[in-house]
Amino acid sequence: MPIPTNRIVGPAAHGRHRRKLAWCRCPGETRRGRSLAVESWAHDPLASAGMKATTLTAQPRDPIELLRGLRAVREYRPDPVPDAILDEILEVGRWSGSASNRQPTEVIVVTDHETRQQLAQNGAGPAANAPLAIVIITSGDADRHDLEVFDEGRLVERLLLAARALGLGGNIATLKGDGPETIKRALGVPADRRAWVVVTIGYIDGAARKARPPRPNQGRKPGEAFVHRDRY
Ligand SMILES: Cc1cc2nc3c(=O)[nH]c(=O)nc-3n(C[C@H](O)[C@H](O)[C@H](O)COP(=O)(O)O)c2cc1C
Repeated sequence: MPIPTNRIVGPAAHGRHRRKLAWCRCPGETRRGRSLAVESWAHDPLASAGMKATTLTAQPRDPIELLRGLRAVREYRPDPVPDAILDEILEVGRWSGSASNRQPTEVIVVTDHETRQQLAQNGAGPAANAPLAIVIITSGDADRHDLEVFDEGRLVERLLLAARALGLGGNIATLKGDGPETIKRALGVPADRRAWVVVTIGYIDGAARKARPPRPNQGRKPGEAFVHRDRY
């Protein structure tokens, strides 16, 4: 699988860089000019944050491990997310596919402390401690509600995967109760738009994550309860 080669690599995200070409599958990828990009994929934030392989993939060795290992991360260090890293995450999001390519999503990037507390108070709890919250706005077309929600989900997953690939953790949360309308007013979102989902992103606080009380229902149902072949 070709590795992206035009990526900006922010210094803060990759302090633990190792010259490791774990994902390199392409001839020529060992050139020095490309190795930084490859390193950023090989870098495993969860392993370096003290996570166990049983909790999350300790060292994503290939794209499938990255995809399968994506988990909800709600424990963040206060370090800000560098603009170069944020830009990359947003650019991945901007290229999300959408139904009929209507591109009904927009995002509001929130770093302001007070606004994040307001997001948390309105249902998106992890925004309180995340250095960065991304409020997803959709066009609010009632006739295309299901498609918009689908498009929104695709966008969110891509943002989270991009964050993970760049050495950060993230989570999705929803605004509850009157939260969507309250937040729309607070952020100046036009009344006809829809705001429901908040993505939080930040560097993983490994110690806080390790100290979490054990939570039930953390795994996934077995494959035989998930996959049907040929018929239900
Ligand atoms: C549609 C949707 C809504 C969610 N809402 C919240 C939420 O409001 N707050 C929150 O902390 N997590 C929320 N989550 C995250 C889920 O709790 C998380 O994906 C699930 O527990 C699996 O976590 P894991 O991958 O770490 O096992 C939401 C996830 C989805 C897909």
